[in-house]
Parts: sequence; C-alpha cells; structure tokens
Amino acid sequence: MVKAVAVITISDTCFKDNSKDTSGPALADYVRELFPEANLHTIIIPDEKEIIERELKYFCETNLDLVLTTGGTGLTPRDVTPEATKAIIQREVPGITMAITLASLKKTPMAQLSRAVAGVREKTLIVNFPGSKKAVTECFEVVKPILPHAISLIH
Ligand code: MTE
Repeated sequence: MVKAVAVITISDTCFKDNSKDTSGPALADYVRELFPEANLHTIIIPDEKEIIERELKYFCETNLDLVLTTGGTGLTPRDVTPEATKAIIQREVPGITMAITLASLKKTPMAQLSRAVAGVREKTLIVNFPGSKKAVTECFEVVKPILPHAISLIH
C-alpha cells in the first residue's frame, strides 16, 4: 500500500508567486486519483541545488513511498533538478526516464530538452517531470501503470 507521496514544484517563479504553479496542482490531482489512500505533501521550492537536495533527502528520511518533482529539468542555467536528484539517489532507474522521453517525443520534439532523472534512495522512488501542466499530464500517463509495482518492489 502506498502510504505517503510528495509533489515538489521546483521553480523560482512559482516560489515567488505560488499562484503561478499549475504543474504541481495537476500532478497532485493525478496522485490523489491513483493513490487515494496516500497522505500527500505538496511544496514549492526555488531552483537551488542545495535546497532541492535537502528537501529530497528529508522526504526520503521520512519514508515517503514516492516523490514526484516538476520543473527545473531543462537547459537554462537555473535548471538544476537533475543534478540535485542524481546527487542524492542511490540507484538510477533509466527505464522510467527512457519511457517518458520516448512517449513525450511523440507529443513534442521539445522533449529532447528535458534531462529528467528517476531513481531510488532508501525506500523512496523519485521521478523528475518537466515544469508545465501539459508535460506532467503527458509524463504521468507514462508512469501511471508502473508506479504501484515499482513502489512495491522497493519495500
Ligand atoms: N515533455 C512532454 N511530454 N511535454 C512537453 O510539453 N516540454 C519540454 C520538455 N519535455 C514537454 C516535455 C520542454 S519545452 C522543456 S524546455 C523541457 O521539457 C524541460 O522543461 P523544464 O525546464 O520545465 O523542466
């Protein structure tokens, strides 16, 4: 059973003005639908590597089953979500990001620009998504069928 999930919006813009966050709430809705029994935490943090690492580690230490991030996966100098994620995961799960990229390329060639990472730290699965509502909708559809089994394997 999936007991707790976090959705982290990583964006300087949304951190300054929470009302600008559309991808985080969309992702939270998809999580509630898939895991209605889970406790859901949502936070918005800026594009700061140390802060991202700290929050990811905190959620892993508190034994969350799943952490989904949205934003900061692209090529602007402030996009550091993949670096922060790589720094704290213990095992990468490249199949997840491969599947997301393959499916996303059918929607937009811009999918080439996401450097998203997926991996496991302790008992927590972490998956990065790009930072738009459209992107999280498309990417969540890809991982939705595998998330329950992936999480059950980690425990
Ligand atoms: N993937 C999907 N499925 N749909 C999208 O619209 N947008 C792309 C890409 N991945 C997109 C997508 C774009 S335009 C960018 S710049 C990169 O994700 C990185 O986005 P981020 O910097 O907001 O994380």
